[in-house]
Amino acid sequence: MGRAMRRPIIAGNWKLNNTISEAVALTTALKSLVTHCTGVEIIVAPTFTALAAIGDVIKDSNVLLAAQDVYWEDSGAFTGEVSAPMLKDVGCDYVIIGHSERRQYFGETNESVNQKVKAALSHDLKPIICVGEQLEDRERGRTDTVIENHITGGIADLSAAELLSSVIAYEPVWAIGTGKTATPAQAQEVHSLIRKLLTDAYSDEVASQIRIQYGGSVKPENAAELMAQPDVDGALVGGASLQAESFAEIVKNSI
Ligand code: PGA
Repeated sequence: MGRAMRRPIIAGNWKLNNTISEAVALTTALKSLVTHCTGVEIIVAPTFTALAAIGDVIKDSNVLLAAQDVYWEDSGAFTGEVSAPMLKDVGCDYVIIGHSERRQYFGETNESVNQKVKAALSHDLKPIICVGEQLEDRERGRTDTVIENHITGGIADLSAAELLSSVIAYEPVWAIGTGKTATPAQAQEVHSLIRKLLTDAYSDEVASQIRIQYGGSVKPENAAELMAQPDVDGALVGGASLQAESFAEIVKNSI
């Protein structure tokens, strides 16, 4: 199965931005701009507090809902956490797991990523599993090792079917929020490495079916050339997803 068989997937990670009314306004504008965009999966990931309101706005539209994180227990004495059944209940289809900001500032590890991925899958939530090297890793020639580590740790013990319900997002940390995008060739190189790791761990068939997004300063101007790479199936967009027009342009440039 080649690139043509993998449905492009563009997700907007809003991070810690937008009140409920701002989030509703942004989503309402986005929804009307992408009405005719078929053949691409479009996802927005608001903060937890805006999920219910955005779920209402996108009902019966081609925009899907994601959360930015999840806890692995279903319920209990875990103050401040939100569980997979709760995200499902509020209408999420996807959840971002292991974003580099969570690894960097909130102590996320490959082990916690793996626990969260399993919890999400067991409640029919599709995980977007983030992996990516720091600038120092790249400069020291450790990119491949870091990616292998994040991939094998994050997907440990998943069945082939579970893996195929997941999405991988390759986000070089040095490209996130910096305006410094990986070149299409740099993105392609790591995406193809990820596919090779999945071929070795599962099979060629599984590796060729899973979707791998690129993230890190994706903008309307660079989306098409990134998406033109044979192993790039979509984008995880931060800053440029906070404006309906620029996010819609990225969606259109990805088809
Ligand atoms: P950015 O963020 O597009 O602002 O670089 C991407 C991300 O962190 O998912």
